[in-house]
Amino acid sequence: MEVSVWRGSGGQGAYEIFQVPAQDNQTVLDVVSYIQQEIDPSLTYRYACRVGMCGSCAMMVNGQPRWTCRTHVKKVLTAGRLTVAPLRNLPVIRDLAADMDPFFEKWVKAGGVHKPGRSRDDAIQQVSPEDPGRVEANKAIECINCAVCYAACDTVAGSPDYLGPAALQRAWTLYNDVKVTDRAAVLASVTGPEGCTNCHSQGSCTRFCPNELDPLGSVAGLKRALARSFFGGKG
Ligand code: SF4
Ligand code: SF4
Ligand code: FES
Repeated sequence: MEVSVWRGSGGQGAYEIFQVPAQDNQTVLDVVSYIQQEIDPSLTYRYACRVGMCGSCAMMVNGQPRWTCRTHVKKVLTAGRLTVAPLRNLPVIRDLAADMDPFFEKWVKAGGVHKPGRSRDDAIQQVSPEDPGRVEANKAIECINCAVCYAACDTVAGSPDYLGPAALQRAWTLYNDVKVTDRAAVLASVTGPEGCTNCHSQGSCTRFCPNELDPLGSVAGLKRALARSFFGGKG
């Protein structure tokens, strides 16, 4: 199998072609690991768990963002070829390793840090699993921070300051969490030129999320909450 792999750093680089033996049940991460272990030990990439838990192995595979440890080569081969590149919309550290700093900085900008309303001296707040806010917040807690949705987002590509689907989804989770006391502050973090109103609602984020989450739905929720607060409703 012929595999084109992006090599380079500092904004400079080119594709290099490698021949990799095809195997049954081979993942894209298996292919990248084979190249690094058997052909060129200097190939730089990132992974940790190999089982879809850590979110560190995402790359562009034949032009689409994917978690490479759970992506089987047979499912994504195009005319017998495989092209692997670093995640879109992020700076490249080297080869296939994207710099995740801008992605996580936006989580902070979007108010993604939980600020509890109680101290350790207070009684633990009981929250019913049926509470509507809890139900809504639960929908996105399986996010593994892989940035696949971020790489899929055309709005991030055109407006690099846009907070992006994952950070906005996190804001929506906190907005619905009954343990968060200052919901207006969460909403304020996602309002403005970098915020949720920039989303064009075409849903690439939801389509590509490997954990079948729905960042588009979260962004839509934020937009509704913003509209309600604008017209004087409950924030
Ligand atoms: S629906 Fe919105 S957040 Fe999702 S990819 Fe499109 S612009 Fe980005
Ligand atoms: S929402 Fe999905 S695609 Fe986006 S970071 Fe979380 S798990 Fe990855
Ligand atoms: S290596 Fe952990 S999600 Fe792929």
